[in-house]
Amino acid sequence: MDRDLIERHSAPVPRYTSYPTAPHFHAGVDAQTYATWLSESPADASLSLYLHIPFCDRLCWFCACHTKQVLRYDPISAYLEALHAEIATVGALLGGRKVKAVHLGGGSPTMLRADDVDRLAAALRQGFAFAGDCEISLEVDPNDISEDKLDAWARFGVTRASFGVQDFDETVQRVINRLQSFVDTAEAVAGFRARGVGSVNLDVLYGLTHQTIETLAATVEQVISLRPDRVALFGYAHVPWMKKHQRLIDETQLPDGYARFAQARLGASMLEEAGYVAVGLDHFALPEDSMAQALADGSLHRNFQGYTTDGAEMLIGLGASSIGRLPQGYVQNVAATAEYSRVALAGKLSVARGYALDDSDRAAAWLIEQIMCGFGFSAAELRRRFPGQASHLLAQATGIAQNDLDRFVGWDGDDFRVTQRGRPFVRAVASRFDAFLKRDDQRHSIAV
Ligand SMILES: C[S@@+](CC[C@H](N)C(=O)[O-])C[C@H]1O[C@@H](n2cnc3c(N)ncnc32)[C@H](O)[C@@H]1O
Ligand code: SF4
Repeated sequence: MDRDLIERHSAPVPRYTSYPTAPHFHAGVDAQTYATWLSESPADASLSLYLHIPFCDRLCWFCACHTKQVLRYDPISAYLEALHAEIATVGALLGGRKVKAVHLGGGSPTMLRADDVDRLAAALRQGFAFAGDCEISLEVDPNDISEDKLDAWARFGVTRASFGVQDFDETVQRVINRLQSFVDTAEAVAGFRARGVGSVNLDVLYGLTHQTIETLAATVEQVISLRPDRVALFGYAHVPWMKKHQRLIDETQLPDGYARFAQARLGASMLEEAGYVAVGLDHFALPEDSMAQALADGSLHRNFQGYTTDGAEMLIGLGASSIGRLPQGYVQNVAATAEYSRVALAGKLSVARGYALDDSDRAAAWLIEQIMCGFGFSAAELRRRFPGQASHLLAQATGIAQNDLDRFVGWDGDDFRVTQRGRPFVRAVASRFDAFLKRDDQRHSIAV
């Protein structure tokens, strides 16, 4: 692939984990709106819960997550009290609707002490009705793991453990402030597997400072040796205007768009050669894994955690800064933990902003999700789902195809498809349908 092409398509664009994206949420959607939306939701809607733990015992300089470093446990204990209160408040409003999936993210949920993991499990089981086959996934910092915590998470019912690896090269680890040996990571993976956690995901980053094709290849080789069921190969998002600690990253040693592209391609080809199926933009799954199967049968989704097999009708966000999605729109809790805790402990909903979807948003959201997950959409399916919106979006598809000098898309009036050549630029293709995107918007990360 030539350098000019990559550079021309490296302009910042959203990752489309929602549409519209979170910067378009506003305070016009508040706790009152959320209460109304919850009360209007279908009684048989299935639920997915996302719980956010915004604490870590280290601060990795590359990190773009909503978290803060804590050296004592007290802030975590105080936060958990508020989280329990929110679970009770929201659970009471949701009646007997069944929870099909739970995701614990952060930050580092593995900061929780074993007895707090048990208490959280009890609060959730008291607040919500769980489906028998509920999937429970946990983001794991291997650095936090101990035998008692492993036992507690096994009691919690974790079915998938997702480990942050990033890069195993010691030089890279030093300059991103994330020291983590392969041995510690392998032991953490083995600890979860030994307790019956059936599915393992590893997160790897490319595009980090000081990272080269060689360091990435060595990391991916080590990752493959652990035979995870899934691998996420994320492009490092360098957004120091949003995350001030990223200023500690040596920008002079950041790979440019061309080098990032080469790293992403190399990682992908190594994983594919090792038997993994490429899923969307940045995921890889063993063929027997449910994510590869969801890709094959068209049931893959994209939400705030990235690609997911979770198709629940309502995503309920719990904890500071958590985002939820209801049929009516998006809601986001207040981000500051002190304010979140004050509101939650008072027994109130802590939503601070959100977005109410209209039919044209829903149609564009569906179409963008189809492009991000399956690299295309069917015109007939668009017309069936959104009869009032289809002609406008299909005219847009025609305009995009007519101006497609780089041969990124194919469009025959029935099927819109991103070509093999266009796949690395899928975010840029999806962005052509984004009615909110200002072309000079610099708030997002580089597109490849
Ligand atoms: C909440 S963290 C993972 C859990 C745990 N705290 C850990 O680090 O091991 C989720 C993942 O987000 C990814 N991530 C964090 N900052 C990122 C950034 N700036 N660009 C791309 N991915 C990022 C990392 O791969 C990380 O493993
Ligand atoms: S990458 Fe994980 S451990 Fe590191 S600061 Fe971010 S959330 Fe915390």
